[in-house]
Amino acid sequence: MNVLVVGGGGREHAIVWALSKSPLVKQLYCAPGNAGIAGLAQCVSIKATDVDAMVNWAKSNAMDFVVVAPDDPLALGMVDALEAAGIPAFGPKANAAVIEASKSFSKDLMEKYHIPTARYQAFTSLDAALAYIEAQGAPIVVKADGLALGKGVIVAQTVEEAKQAARSMLSGQAFGAAGTKVVIEEYMTGPEVTVLAFCDGKTLAPMPSSQDHKRAYDGNQGPNTGGMGAISPVPCFTEELARQCMDTIFRPTVDAMAAEGHPFHGVLYFGLMLTPDGPKVVEYNSRFGDPECQAVLSLLDSDLMEIFQACRAGTLDQVDIRWKAASACCLVLASGGYPGPYQKGCPITGLEDAGRAALVFHAGTALSSDGAVVTSGGRVLGVTALGDTLDAAIAAAYAGAKHIRFDNMQMRSDIGRAF
Ligand code: AMP
Ligand code: GLY
Repeated sequence: MNVLVVGGGGREHAIVWALSKSPLVKQLYCAPGNAGIAGLAQCVSIKATDVDAMVNWAKSNAMDFVVVAPDDPLALGMVDALEAAGIPAFGPKANAAVIEASKSFSKDLMEKYHIPTARYQAFTSLDAALAYIEAQGAPIVVKADGLALGKGVIVAQTVEEAKQAARSMLSGQAFGAAGTKVVIEEYMTGPEVTVLAFCDGKTLAPMPSSQDHKRAYDGNQGPNTGGMGAISPVPCFTEELARQCMDTIFRPTVDAMAAEGHPFHGVLYFGLMLTPDGPKVVEYNSRFGDPECQAVLSLLDSDLMEIFQACRAGTLDQVDIRWKAASACCLVLASGGYPGPYQKGCPITGLEDAGRAALVFHAGTALSSDGAVVTSGGRVLGVTALGDTLDAAIAAAYAGAKHIRFDNMQMRSDIGRAF
């Protein structure tokens, strides 16, 4: 099969890497891809959000299957458009991707189907939002309703901070249209765990649990980022908790989406908080998380292409999905200054040596005119290693990363140990 993967970050490199091992896949393409992906797939210079150009290219180049990995094209209906053009595609249609693209949709769904989550109310009126914040007190959480590049959540420690967040979101200043509706919710506490699950509309197959590290600096300090590292599986997420989540969260969510006429095909991301009152949903995403994907897929011992096809066809119950009995750690190497402004175009050295010690998934990399690999984004690389134990996986990822150098490289030294 000719297979196109849409996206160009570390998550997409991990997906391309896993698909490259499938006997079902003849030729791989990735749009737009990056310098690392270019070693496994032919990169196509089309923006991930350009639905029309993507569909036209897939059609004229005889793609047999397209994997849509990032949130924006999913919310824009890229899977709907591909399927309408007769091209089989992996990922939720727009009416299911809404579980991530609209927080008020997902909160209303959880309320209707009694899925445990933080208490909340949605607002479009500033006066009503301010009155609610005043009545509830702090700490309290203010969220933009729409997609806001992972930055639309303010965990406010004071009433004034929460009011300020509501003002800047509802005025459209902070996130444009994505913020003109806000969800204000109860502050929850406890460890955070991600569970990704393959879904075919009715059946779901959870992957090993994982844990992102969202803050920029050690000790979970500093600004929120796209994710500075991930481990899988998470030691505190016991079999018993997994069973409890299956009964109270995972299955009810997939059933609810089907019952509402929004059957979910693709990867459903459950962002969970293990609160003193039991596991609750912090957020849903309609895709693999990044960098959770890199850690989790490195543990997959089955054919990813076969799983993707089954998710689309509704035959997931017939696929045996196996996972390595190991742990994984993905360590993100970022550009100095990230998530704020950073320099691009810095040459990267040590990739070959690192690649002998670990899986080096590229995120923000590009090839310079003379063929050298240079930085081109905030998150640059995801050095990923396996081990018999979590400690061994962490040690192996750090050992791999030691070989890599670029100007102002930034990484956390406590991935897997900060909780
Ligand atoms: P989200 O973009 O919804 O994942 O939120 C980003 C981060 O904000 C989460 O990973 C949590 O750490 C935090 N957060 C979101 N909602 C809450 C909540 N209700 N209580 C406490 N922390 C939260
Ligand atoms: N790592 C969090 C996300 O992909 O949303």
